[in-house]
Amino acid sequence: MVPEEVTSLLADARRVVAFTGAGMSAESGLDTYRDATTGLWENVDPQAMASIDAWARDPDPMWAWYLWRARLAAEAQPNAGHRALAPIPIVTQNIDNLHERGGSVEVVHLHGSLFSFRCTICARPFRGVELPESPAERATPPACPLCGNLIRPGVVWFGEMLPTDAWQRAEDLISSCDALLVVGTSGIVQPAATLPLLAPAMIEISPQETNLTRFASYSWRTTAAVGLPQLESFLTTPS
Ligand code: APR
Repeated sequence: MVPEEVTSLLADARRVVAFTGAGMSAESGLDTYRDATTGLWENVDPQAMASIDAWARDPDPMWAWYLWRARLAAEAQPNAGHRALAPIPIVTQNIDNLHERGGSVEVVHLHGSLFSFRCTICARPFRGVELPESPAERATPPACPLCGNLIRPGVVWFGEMLPTDAWQRAEDLISSCDALLVVGTSGIVQPAATLPLLAPAMIEISPQETNLTRFASYSWRTTAAVGLPQLESFLTTPS
């Protein structure tokens, strides 16, 4: 049952945009980062596996971990929440490709993608990375054919800048929408978590309170795959 506050916020909204986080893919079987006991950061130290300093110190454990996460994401399926959001523009912190595989046409990746690779130094894109069949503690990244330096995952690590073109597009989409759906994010990581504040109206869809709840016009205690399909009649491609 869609709360009346949500239907009234969406009834007159012509341009609806979604801002998503890891909770969007939880019902597709992919771990979030901070959910107690199941979150990635409960079992892995982000500073050891998601920082540019750790990469400089010892890339092999990170290379193995990101390739395995890419394999898990490739084998996951988009859920009903991804499919419900297909008609509207998406700004996501997620590095999986489930929005695209769920039918979304515009997906702005603020933190990069598990499926893009580039040279650590010359930034030349690198194709043809084989995803592993099983997890490993370590794996050696290939060398860049152009300059010989290490190939790295095309994701944003702690301590790195976000891609400027993605940031600019995200700001434009969110500041010019009529309503923003915020789904599956704890609203903890900056600067991404400042973007929803640009929206004229924010509807949060989350099973629990988050750092963004207090800024939301309404916060609906439900999940991505349960709540979003109930909003499909409001989610049409902007004319
Ligand atoms: N539907 C909707 N929301 C859910 C679901 C679900 N089925 N399951 C969990 N959630 C919520 C959790 O309650 C939590 O608020 O999704 C949120 C996930 O929060 P995080 O694990 O912190 O993920 P996220 O906000 O995307 O993290 C942002 O942190 O580590 C960095 O770069 C990484 O992009 C990531 C960023």
